[in-house]
This record gives sequence, structure tokens and C-alpha cells, in this order.
Amino acid sequence: MALFVTALGSVSSNDYNTFNKIALPPSVTGPESAAFDRAGEGPYVTVADGRILKWKGPTIGFVDFAYTSPSRTKILCDGTNDLDLGPTCGRPVAISFNYKTSDLYITDAFFGLLVVGFNGGLATQLSGGYKYLSGIDVESYTGNVYMTDASLTYNIRNMAQPGFTPDSTGRLLKYDPRTQRVAVLLSGLAGAGGPAVSSDRKYVLVPEYANNRIQRYWLQGPKHSTNEVFMTGIGSPKNIKRAANDGEFWVAIEKQAQGLRVNGSTMVLQTVPLTQFVNTGVAVVQEMNNAVYVGSSHTDFVGVYTN
Ligand SMILES: *[C@@H]1O[C@H](CO)[C@@H](O)[C@H](O)[C@H]1NC(C)=O
Repeated sequence: MALFVTALGSVSSNDYNTFNKIALPPSVTGPESAAFDRAGEGPYVTVADGRILKWKGPTIGFVDFAYTSPSRTKILCDGTNDLDLGPTCGRPVAISFNYKTSDLYITDAFFGLLVVGFNGGLATQLSGGYKYLSGIDVESYTGNVYMTDASLTYNIRNMAQPGFTPDSTGRLLKYDPRTQRVAVLLSGLAGAGGPAVSSDRKYVLVPEYANNRIQRYWLQGPKHSTNEVFMTGIGSPKNIKRAANDGEFWVAIEKQAQGLRVNGSTMVLQTVPLTQFVNTGVAVVQEMNNAVYVGSSHTDFVGVYTN
């Protein structure tokens, strides 16, 4: 997000206590991701019926942008949240732009890793055969894609059951677009959520929501290729996104319905109560233009908190 820093400036005086909803189209639920493109347009959201939608502002609302399954039809799939239709309709979970190429990388619970160009449409599969590929972050400088595999045992249908506790078979993976190969960086994760690479590209943070902690995996420097516990005692972290300020992140605390702004020294700089998500949980907190956009697996809207 370094590209946006100059335009955004400091966010330190923001308390985000004004709430607005951006409604999804009728019957559509589960906006687990909220990403913005290089021009600052969006949010783009992944929804339960297999689409990636793009918000075009209050007059037009959400429009179709992309989809992951070659056999998806709008008649069968639009508005569904039936996971049994997932192999036909797709279920994109997380998205992240490569800001150099404007390609959108997608993890889908049924179709693995995919990519789609800035015009959208049917995405191309890059890597498949996963039980439940979930989180993603593209590091735009190298083009490397960091992603998490939620479990080697359980799929999205298992894990969507109320009260389900993930096992400890989650992994942090890296897809290299030059070799088109996937490397395993970390294994044994319990409830691996969405990772985020630091703005200086020195490390990647990986939430383990079933272990109530965040791990740090070093990409550069003397601790290169090793990991350490980064934060504990902050509730169940589901997804991490870079904040507008370099070196800072937003952590979505799923069950406690909070957004935490943290930095690389493990300091919690700000806690934002996401009151409207207390009953649904929080999947993602994404900052843009002095607002935070909040998604959830269980809402029919994206929440926008401003000042
Ligand atoms: C994190 O924030 C604290 C408190 O403002 C500050 O002292 C520290 O230097 C920051 N760490 C980094 C890596 O920016």
C-alpha cells in the first residue's frame, strides 16, 4: 500500500466512530475480503455465491467483476450461500492486487489459487489440489504471492460448521510467479488466516485464529526463513492487512469484533470496536482514504467506519 501513503497522510487522529453500510445485492452474503485497486477504486469483495463484486459508488452499487468456476452460471449461483454448490459456483475467499501489473490474485475454497486481469471475468487457475486455500497477500515488488492453507484435513464445509475448531495442519505457502511453484514456508498452524507482508518486505505476519496468536516469518535479514510468535493475548485474529502508514497493520479480531492497528514492534496503536459485527464476527479490516472497510462471512453488507 506504499503507493497510497502520500495521498492518505497520517491517520492518528481517526477514531472511526461513524458507521455506514454498503449493501450487497439482494440475497448475497459473506464479503470476506475488501480490496482496492491501484487507482483506489473498490472495494472489491469476495462473496458466498462465487463472485467477486466491485463497488462503483452509491448510485451504481456493486457490479460483477470476476468469478472462479468455469461451470458457474448466474441462474444457478447468483445469491446462493449453499456450500454444496461450491464445486459449481466457486467460493472466492481472499483477494489481493499486484499493484505493478493490476492482476488480481484470488484464493478460492474449491479452486485454489487463481488470477484475473484488470478487466475481470473468468479467473485462471494457477495452483490447485488444496483442501481449503484461504488467506492471500501479494507482495507487489517481487510479485510473490503469500497464502495460507487452512487445513490438510478439513474443507470449507467442515470448517463452516458452528463451533468447529480447526486442527493444527494449516500452512503458510509462497507462490513464485516466475517458476510457477509453490513452497511451504510454515506448517502446523491452527486456524491460519490471512497473512500480510510488511511494507519493507522483511517479514510476513500470519494469524492463527484457533491459537489466538500471530506468527512472524522472516523473509530477509539474519532471521531469514525462521519464525517466532509475534503477538498473543489479542483475541482470535482472522486476517491481517497493511495499514496506510508504512510498517503498520490492521488485524481483524474475529470473535471479539475489533480492529487493531499494530506495528512491527508488536505495539497495539489503536483498538476500534466494530459493534455492528458482534453477532456475526469480523473477517477483514481494510483501510482506505481515512476509512476502514469491514467484511464478515455472515453479513449482507460491508461496514464502513469513518470519523
Ligand atoms: C511502534 O509504535 C511505538 C509507539 O508509538 C513506537 O515507539 C515504535 O517505535 C514503533 N515501532 C515501529 C517499528 O515503528
